[in-house]
Amino acid sequence: MKKILNGRVVENIEIADKVYRLVVNAPEAVRDYVPGRFVNVYLKDKSLLLPRPVSISETNGENMALIYGVVGKGTSEIAQYDMGDRIRISTPLGNGYQIGSLLQKMKRDHAMQDGAKAGVIGLVGGGIGVPPLLGLAKAIRKMQREAADDDKSNLEFRNLKTVAVLGFQREPFLEEELKEYCDEVLIATDEGNFGFHGNVLDLIGQNQIHADGYFACGPKPMLKALSTYCRERQIPVQISMEERMGCGYGACVGCVCKTQEKTDEGIAVAAKKVCKDGPVFYGDEVIW
Ligand code: FES
Repeated sequence: MKKILNGRVVENIEIADKVYRLVVNAPEAVRDYVPGRFVNVYLKDKSLLLPRPVSISETNGENMALIYGVVGKGTSEIAQYDMGDRIRISTPLGNGYQIGSLLQKMKRDHAMQDGAKAGVIGLVGGGIGVPPLLGLAKAIRKMQREAADDDKSNLEFRNLKTVAVLGFQREPFLEEELKEYCDEVLIATDEGNFGFHGNVLDLIGQNQIHADGYFACGPKPMLKALSTYCRERQIPVQISMEERMGCGYGACVGCVCKTQEKTDEGIAVAAKKVCKDGPVFYGDEVIW
């Protein structure tokens, strides 16, 4: 059930060109956190009616980090918030990544059937889609640690390797933070000024990354290309869809995407709300 909460700004700093990290103290919102979920930030300027959806990058204690790009009036207002300012957010919004579900598919479909072979998870992010992967990488690492402490736990968690493949136009961010939780972090830039010159799929090919499953977040062309790549290889991929949003909780039908699902009768096509039914879907569910 959606709630509107008051939080306090702990930090709001520019971490790359026009990309800000806003840390908000909001214990109740932190309790609702699942990697891949987002919050709506309500603006103080009442002429800007709609709240701005911002993905949650990670949580720490009672704080959550929201990373956003300054792209218009609303996000320009958010960039002005100072430490101690009050901020109104709604939570919990969206369905996040389902780590267990992807792992089950990897186990069923791929190389991990004996439970002892190391599986590889790819985290693929593009631009402002990179931040939610940090919280996701942390959650996967935590599961690995818990599995390592527990003899009876599934072996596949203990043997997982996590590779992040990140694409930026020009200026990378969160690379160091992701290195703490991933076995490998690879960077591509469109302009070639940093890391690999090209896109994330070319980088995956160049480094011969044979992941058994992927999680992704980023611009639609990247998600579409990765979904096609995964479909051709029968690799499961969960993608977090980027879509323009209005209400953020399923009321305005402003964020619909077409999906398909196999049923006993054939293929069922549906219109799903990215904010409420997603933003995370399996890549082969989405009709592009
Ligand atoms: Fe209103 Fe999704 S933004 S239904």
